[in-house]
Amino acid sequence: MKAHIVTLPGDGVGPEVTAAAVAVLKAVAARYEHVFTFDEQLIGGAAIDATGAPLPAASLAACQSADAVLLGAVGGPKWSDPNASVRPEQGLLALRAALGVYANLRPLQVHPALADLSPLKNEKLQNVDVLFVRELTGGAYFGAKTRSADTATDECKYTVAEIERVVRRAFELACGRRHHVTSVDKANVLETSRLWRSTVQRIAADYPDIKVEHQLVDSMAMLLLTQPNRYDVVVTENLFGDILTDEAAALAGSLGLLPSASLGDGKAGLYEPIHGSAPDIAGQGVANPVGAILSTALLLRHSLGLEVEAVAVETAVDQVLRHGPHTRDIGGSAGTAAVCDAVLAAIEQHADSASTFLCGARACG
Ligand code: NAD
Ligand code: IPM
Ligand code: MN
Repeated sequence: MKAHIVTLPGDGVGPEVTAAAVAVLKAVAARYEHVFTFDEQLIGGAAIDATGAPLPAASLAACQSADAVLLGAVGGPKWSDPNASVRPEQGLLALRAALGVYANLRPLQVHPALADLSPLKNEKLQNVDVLFVRELTGGAYFGAKTRSADTATDECKYTVAEIERVVRRAFELACGRRHHVTSVDKANVLETSRLWRSTVQRIAADYPDIKVEHQLVDSMAMLLLTQPNRYDVVVTENLFGDILTDEAAALAGSLGLLPSASLGDGKAGLYEPIHGSAPDIAGQGVANPVGAILSTALLLRHSLGLEVEAVAVETAVDQVLRHGPHTRDIGGSAGTAAVCDAVLAAIEQHADSASTFLCGARACG
């Protein structure tokens, strides 16, 4: 198949992990006979430096006509003055809003080879398989903001339509998993959360086979650490989802491991690791590329419908996590490029063994 992919490397380790992700997509295209074209565009601090804007019009237009967008990370100390009026993160938020990608899927699994890295006891990490569905285009991130010398406000607003579409997506995803949805809110305090909860209750009636529970976000933060394998699909609002998924990454062993897919109503999507620009390690070639690489698997699956290829990437990453090489954050000493090369080799190996299997089944030479 043919697909056009826009890449937005951004800032800090963004370009380092995006290069690895692009190498993986190129290897998949070559091996599975697809034609992927790539167009690199500016976003974030790099875009501010080059054009003055965190999401230049040319970048947005390119993203809007792409089959999928692959992003590294934005932000960093250079652009973090709390009094600045133009910020890298504004570019990412504007892009999510413009693409209408309201459902941010953040899968969490704990690889057995890395369970010792987690601060939790190994037995708590058995069978952890959670799909967070974070609302991505509403809430406090997008409400009106005010600032005066001694006061600041961030409006948190949700409409029923905004809640309904992301919650329905979560229920649909649960139908293909373990039929369990946990909705996380702060309904004991926030009006937006009460609207959220009553909307979830109404939608739940359409899905009688799904077990639904409601959990307040503060106790959820605790339960995620004490009983992580209780959860299947967890759906929540934008800010709670941001915080809970970084917490969840600690269970996996590193923030560098988790991918994400941001989806709207169409096939096109925005794919990015959940981590940021990691200024403390940027430019050293040591960032873990696994979150970015696993994001390409989500891209292949959700935007391009290439399930076999998505599984090939995930199997290759599984092999590399099992046998190494590993970057520093997960206890190794390999650089980003060495891990990427190992994933590329494992993709070839996986494809070879799959085609040997097929050939054997058909008794061909
Ligand atoms: P961060 O995710 O950049 O880093 C937190 C910690 O995790 C650091 O110690 C970092 O070294 C480590 N880490 C992150 N990614 C890693 C990787 N791939 N391999 C190894 N270690 C990794 O979070 P932060 O320091 O709070 O934020 C830094 C900047 O990134 C801020 O400007 C923030 O706004 C931005 N940010 C951007 C995105 C995004 O673009 N999607 C996401 C989160 C944060
Ligand atoms: C993320 C990041 C972003 C967010 C920032 C950089 C705007 O933390 O993708 O998780 O809060 O959504
Ligand atoms: Mn975040």
